[in-house]
This record gives sequence, C-alpha cells and structure tokens, in this order.
Amino acid sequence: MQIDILTLFPEMFEGPFSVGLFQKAVERGLVKVELHNFREQTHDRHSSVDDAPYGGGAGMVLKPEPIFETVEMLINQPDVESPPVILLTPQGRVFNQQIAAELAKKPRMILICGRYEGVDERVREHLATDEISIGDYVLGGGELAAMVVVDAVTRLIPGVVGSEESAADDSHSTGLLKYPQYTRPSQFRDWAVPEILLSGNHARIAEWRRQQSIDRTGKRRPDMLERAGLGGNVSRQSGT
Ligand code: 6GU
Repeated sequence: MQIDILTLFPEMFEGPFSVGLFQKAVERGLVKVELHNFREQTHDRHSSVDDAPYGGGAGMVLKPEPIFETVEMLINQPDVESPPVILLTPQGRVFNQQIAAELAKKPRMILICGRYEGVDERVREHLATDEISIGDYVLGGGELAAMVVVDAVTRLIPGVVGSEESAADDSHSTGLLKYPQYTRPSQFRDWAVPEILLSGNHARIAEWRRQQSIDRTGKRRPDMLERAGLGGNVSRQSGT
C-alpha cells in the first residue's frame, strides 16, 4: 500500500514510522509512506498556508490552494482507481476496526492533516472523499490521528503482522475484547496463572478464552456485546 500524507509537520512522523513492525513492513516493501509538506505548494513570499476566516472570528483557516495543488500533483498520474482522499478532522466519522479493514484493501490512500482552527470548506466538499476522526476529543492537528489510522490499517495488510501474532483474534477484530493473556512464571508473587491454561487441553482453553472475552466485553463494553449479537451470553458466576 502506498500512503501519501499531507502535513505541515512531517518531522512529527519520524519516530512512530521508524520503529517496530511498521518499519519492517516498509523495509519489506509492503508499505510505502510519502510525506508532503503542502507549504511547498505556496507561491507567495511568506509561504502562507492559512488566513483569517471570512465572516470574522478567532483563529486561522487553512487555505485551499496548497492542499488542492499537492493532492492534484499526486493523483494526476494516471491511476487505476483514484485513491481515497481522507481529511483527518474531529468532524469526521469515528474511526474503528471496520473502517481500518476497508482501507487495508486499498492499494493507496491519501491523508490530509488539518491544523489550526480549521480547513477551508472547499477542501471537504471538492477534494476529500472521506473524513475521519479518531474519537470525541480535540487534538491540535490531524497528525497524531493520521498515525493512528496508518498503524491500525497497515497491521491488517497481509504479511505485516506475522501469523504468530495474528491480528484475527485481537480485541475489536472479533467484535469482542481480547481474553486475558499470561506468560511465565506460572506463579508470580501471590498470583497464579489460571489452571486451565496449563492443562494442555486446547478445546477447553479455546472455550475458556471465548467465555472470558464475552464476560470482559459485557462488563467493560456492553455496547459491543449487543452489536456482536451476544447480549445474553455473559456468564453469571464470573468475577473479572
Ligand atoms: Cl482527526 N483531528 C483533530 N484535530 N482532533 C481530533 C481528531 C482529528 N480526531 C479526534 N480528535
């Protein structure tokens, strides 16, 4: 997948994109990221990317021209299918695992990071094909949101996450939260690993994990349990 990111702060991406599974995916050619500072597509002496809002009011609004010109430069190469152009904004649809899975099927996506108090409405209306928010709180800009989207999407690309750490039974992929996990030692301080996990009985372990997932989801995220059609399946005796 090719990912193009429009941002005024490309240096913000250096840390997250240069470690771990993501960096390996880039090295193996599964993911290619290009950062585009749209300040480079300004033509005035001061390289202005923003201006005062028409109608008055506080703050500055990102101008349309540098953003349009940067995106048009990217997709004016004859593409098989024009890629999604996603504006990161608190006004977008709220990002989730399903949206991540949809995007992971695309060969390319373009992300636009908003900044300051807003983006000229014509970017939303005539350039963006989608608007995404990562939750109901306000960030200083779309950069951290873009990193969240890139992380969640790329780990669903086949080969990025090894089968040993399969993404398939992650929290949210199954519609349920993940079951409790343990590793050695089997006894740590006063706390022992549940006996069942040491039993070697894989069928019973799978059953225990499923019930733990359901119980945990019921306690912490009843909204998810309803959506998974499991509203009645929370076990009565569980205390976790
Ligand atoms: Cl995508 N941008 C900003 N500025 N704030 C946010 C957000 C995006 N998603 C949640 N809060």
